[in-house]
Amino acid sequence: MKLQSLLFAAATVFAASAFAQNPIIIKFSHVVATDTPKGKGAQKFKELAEAATKGRVKVEIYPNSQLYKDKEELEALQLGSVQMLAPSLSKFGPLGVKEFEVYDLPYILPSKAALERVNDGPVGKALLKKLEAKGIVGLAFWDNGFKEMTANKPLRTPADFKGTKMRIQSSKVLDAQMRALGANPQVLAFSEVYQAMQTGVVDGSENTPSNIYTQKVHEVQKHLTVSDHGYIGYAVIVNKKFWDALPADVRTALDGAMKESTKYANDIAQKENDAALEAIKKSGKTEVYTLTAQEKAAWRAAMQPVQKTMEERIGKELIAAFNKEAA
Ligand code: LMR
Repeated sequence: MKLQSLLFAAATVFAASAFAQNPIIIKFSHVVATDTPKGKGAQKFKELAEAATKGRVKVEIYPNSQLYKDKEELEALQLGSVQMLAPSLSKFGPLGVKEFEVYDLPYILPSKAALERVNDGPVGKALLKKLEAKGIVGLAFWDNGFKEMTANKPLRTPADFKGTKMRIQSSKVLDAQMRALGANPQVLAFSEVYQAMQTGVVDGSENTPSNIYTQKVHEVQKHLTVSDHGYIGYAVIVNKKFWDALPADVRTALDGAMKESTKYANDIAQKENDAALEAIKKSGKTEVYTLTAQEKAAWRAAMQPVQKTMEERIGKELIAAFNKEAA
């Protein structure tokens, strides 16, 4: 009996040290700066996950497209070269999950409250479920914020967009949105935006203040229009095979860490964007203009047809479900 318990104790110590020496590694790759809602959310997840699993899991974060750019990172996740990502909801089209582009419809969600109702309800759950057929599990939605337009000329009316080359993420809805404004959209990876602006490959773009500021976009764009015409948020996703093969207690601990870091990321997102907009204004490098209610109405009218033209791609019912939450 004594020998047995000794052996058991030894085995436990051995297992613990084996875990410490060979922890389960989660490579979490993303494209934005560390000092952003997503960057901070990832860091929070790392801290909580490592603490909750007592070192059995180690989370390695690779920010700033250090490992992969937009399109490659999704391929890398499917191949299992990385285990976790948080791509923007606008980047799932090339993967064949077009429905996520519903979030890109201009002015579809008027507030963060409406957004929360969608994400936390059956609509959000059903969207994440669609990823499973692609070998991916959707764990959570993380918030960034509403988008503003930037360019080297003032953008106040839809007519001002005529002929401007605008960088977009890889979303057909964003393509349609820019075309509805008379602009020429061009898909570019996030990591290429700054240089494309600097060299004149594109004239402008749309993004959240947090992304604009941390990528120094305001240094290569003379004008920023606060339009809040669209939204950037993320799906935090993992490789399904990896996730399903985790020991059940580890998966439960990671689920808990994800819940808590999601709350953290979503709590700080708006504050981070407000602070970034202030910092952009303070920098004096770009002129910030906020649309009046009347100007906003004109933008909305110009972009509204996109809901109809994208109906077939995204699904009438899904658009209706979003509009219902917005009402
Ligand atoms: C972009 O490509 O503009 C954004 O999706 C980047 C990000 O991850 O916020």
